Amino acid sequence: MSEDWILSVRDLKTHFFTREGVVRAVDGVGFDLAPGRVLGIVGESGCGKSVTALSILGIVDHPGRIVDGRILLRPAHGDTPVDPGHGDTPVDLARLDPPVDLARLDPTGRQIRSIRGGEIALIFQEPMASLSPVHTIGQQISETIRLHRRVGRRRSREQAVEVLRSVGVPDPEEGAKLYPFQLSGGLRQRALIAQALAGEPRVLIADEPTTALDVTTQAQILDLLRDLQKRRGMAVILITHDLGVIAEMADEVLVMYLGKGVERAPVDLIFHSPEHPYTRALLNSMPGLGAAAKQALPSISGTVPPAFRRPAGCSFHPRCLEFLEGTCNRREPEPVMVRPDQEVLCLRREPEEPSQTRKNCPKTDKVYRNRTLRPESGHFSPIEQESRD
Ligand SMILES: Nc1ncnc2c1ncn2[C@@H]1O[C@H](COP(=O)(O)OP(=O)(O)O)[C@@H](O)[C@H]1O
Ligand code: SF4
Ligand SMILES: [Mg+2]
Repeated sequence: MSEDWILSVRDLKTHFFTREGVVRAVDGVGFDLAPGRVLGIVGESGCGKSVTALSILGIVDHPGRIVDGRILLRPAHGDTPVDPGHGDTPVDLARLDPPVDLARLDPTGRQIRSIRGGEIALIFQEPMASLSPVHTIGQQISETIRLHRRVGRRRSREQAVEVLRSVGVPDPEEGAKLYPFQLSGGLRQRALIAQALAGEPRVLIADEPTTALDVTTQAQILDLLRDLQKRRGMAVILITHDLGVIAEMADEVLVMYLGKGVERAPVDLIFHSPEHPYTRALLNSMPGLGAAAKQALPSISGTVPPAFRRPAGCSFHPRCLEFLEGTCNRREPEPVMVRPDQEVLCLRREPEEPSQTRKNCPKTDKVYRNRTLRPESGHFSPIEQESRD
């Protein structure tokens, strides 16, 4: 694993202990996030994307909890006085503060509260659920500023106006005096982004930030996020079910299915050399790629099963076009590096049977490009539109 990360999630498992059974919402997810990079997390509804985000922030609802894994956050530069050594002597990493494991922190403790909103901020899909209806936008942003920066009331109000200006709110002095319900959907989302930026986070997690918006506003908000990310050099985790958004925004991509990371690679490889059958099927469901642009969104065979009724073996097997009877329904796949920076969770990509792997797993274009998944066959349903649980 590269050492150039500020956030490293390793084999994270977050389960919900419900009366119906244990929901393994996140069940072995790992990735590294480098400064100034955008990691896109993609997958259908119910695959564990939001719970991954909530786990990082330590705000998983009861009856859920992190049961295993690590969420390592590197201390900010400047937190620790480090002797840089002399001349070309490299910085002694061993003398830096060790990373903080957020999975081990008390979710109600002081340390995670100062990291939440300060070091790591979250933007949700639905701004009305995240903004207080009884305070003005300006009050809410200046309160976040006071919480995370040492400034007085007056200075925090000025800074709130500046943050609103930076996210493109026209006439930010007046905008700061408005309540959330007085703003349009697009302006509310800008206000929410402003609130997230107010604590000057090093990591921004945006969970479906544009799903509730019309297409034009969606494009504007994505432009804004990209611009802010570049200007501030933030690391961003962008969660979406939309591969179009991933193509525009992400540097690296994690594809999730039923709580697991099934493929992880730079964005170019995801689009040009996808290896996991689920990634290929998602790509195939994109209008303009596998599917004709104007037809109803074709999709992947079946739907995501309930997380507490996980299929045996590879959990994608009931829907997989490359399913191998006796193997895929028996054995759980282990992560395999198919290229130096491409990790896949699929038995048919495992190296033990290289000849079979190649023979039985033709490349994407051969398997999928000539195949149109038809809803009338009874096996295919449109990808569910995301909705927040
Ligand atoms: N509070 C909860 N109680 C029980 N199960 C939950 C709860 N929150 C989420 N889940 C389950 O965890 C799984 C992952 O959910 P989520 O992370 O919201 O998916 P996504 O964001 O990918 O749509 C789903 O099966 C969902 O039903
Ligand atoms: S392990 Fe088998 S069922 Fe699972 S994705 Fe690979 S080929 Fe498909
Ligand atoms: Mg979600």
